[in-house]
Amino acid sequence: MTTTTPLCGNDRPAPQKDRGSRQFLEALAREHGTPVFIIDHEKIRENYREFKKYLPKVQVYFAVKANSNPAIVKTLFDEGASFDVASMPEFMIVYEFIKDMPDKERQDFIWDRIIYANTIKPIETLEELNQYKPLVTFDNIEELKKIRAHAPQAGLVLRLRVPNTGSMVELSSKFGADPGEAVDLIKAAFDLGLVVEGLSFHVGSQCTNFENYVEALQIASSIIDECESRLGQKIRILDIGGGFPVRYNPDVRPLADLAAKLNAEFARLFPEDMQILAEPGRFLVANACTLVAKVVGKAHRDGKPCYYINDGVYHTYSGQVFDHCTYPVLSLTKEGPARISAVFGPTCDAFDTITLSAELPNLEIGDLVYSENIGAYSIASSTYFNGFPPAKVVHINR
Ligand SMILES: Cc1ncc(COP(=O)(O)O)c(C=O)c1O
Repeated sequence: MTTTTPLCGNDRPAPQKDRGSRQFLEALAREHGTPVFIIDHEKIRENYREFKKYLPKVQVYFAVKANSNPAIVKTLFDEGASFDVASMPEFMIVYEFIKDMPDKERQDFIWDRIIYANTIKPIETLEELNQYKPLVTFDNIEELKKIRAHAPQAGLVLRLRVPNTGSMVELSSKFGADPGEAVDLIKAAFDLGLVVEGLSFHVGSQCTNFENYVEALQIASSIIDECESRLGQKIRILDIGGGFPVRYNPDVRPLADLAAKLNAEFARLFPEDMQILAEPGRFLVANACTLVAKVVGKAHRDGKPCYYINDGVYHTYSGQVFDHCTYPVLSLTKEGPARISAVFGPTCDAFDTITLSAELPNLEIGDLVYSENIGAYSIASSTYFNGFPPAKVVHINR
């Protein structure tokens, strides 16, 4: 993912957790070792229910890429969620939960509750996908020709390029057909004997500028109207993508505010029988996960204390690189006057710097630190660099 505006909302010191919760985290870290990545499934269920409460007309496809831990997929599966997958391995994570269903039920699930939302698919993937006849997205003519040749049974969704202004992670430079060429692309698909069932867009991840959604809905609505008047084709699926912002800090407006705008625009712009989908990733998992790590080294450099911990930007903190997010590092076990401190990851690369300005009390080797709201695009991009494996995952409230 790339960004135009490094606008991460959580670069302000977060309040410490209360003592009871900190003791609980410490007990988990003592039991399981560190680094430990704790997933709270009750929080995921709450997020899902909140989404459904404020956007009752919208079918929720969890974007598996945000955190593909199969237990998260299972929790959301049990809640009744649908899934956005972007690779064959992600598809198979979901498939695992439906493989033993009777044939018809399984096929209906794939039709109704999975979308393959990567506009670019290798030929081998299309050949494998074809038997499942899922919904797949596309945004260009070359992809259409590939789909015609290798997955003609798929249902198509055209992804549009829409404004990503101010979003923390922008996606429109890489994906989406220009609105001006959309109807011609849809015509080309029908001419090839394919069926375009829907339109989709993504306003950029952690989208705090709600006008992006409003503009995107307006664009989609005019294309749907033009399809009907020019091609005589009814488009009845509208996929509004992800982007739903997490309240990393109180300045981020709540989902309820965004939902009020969206619901009003749905009613104003689209017919009653329009099926509306969304692909939230971050919103469902970010605040459900906490990382606990341990201080494994300590030095004094450039006039400040430096702590070396056993997780870093090649691991769970990789979200600081790929997701443009910053995760405040807080002391779990020690209290005392805060000093501006540097916190580094465990690898031999100086790039493995989590922060040069954490506010931490005087820590010793063996002390524990933690970061909250670290569930999205974090452990998902963790590597084994330098031989350090990803953090151990522990589930609570499963
Ligand atoms: C196609 C698509 N859908 C959904 C998502 C999830 O977005 P978010 O985590 O902002 O909700 C992404 C994220 O990159 C995406 O590329």
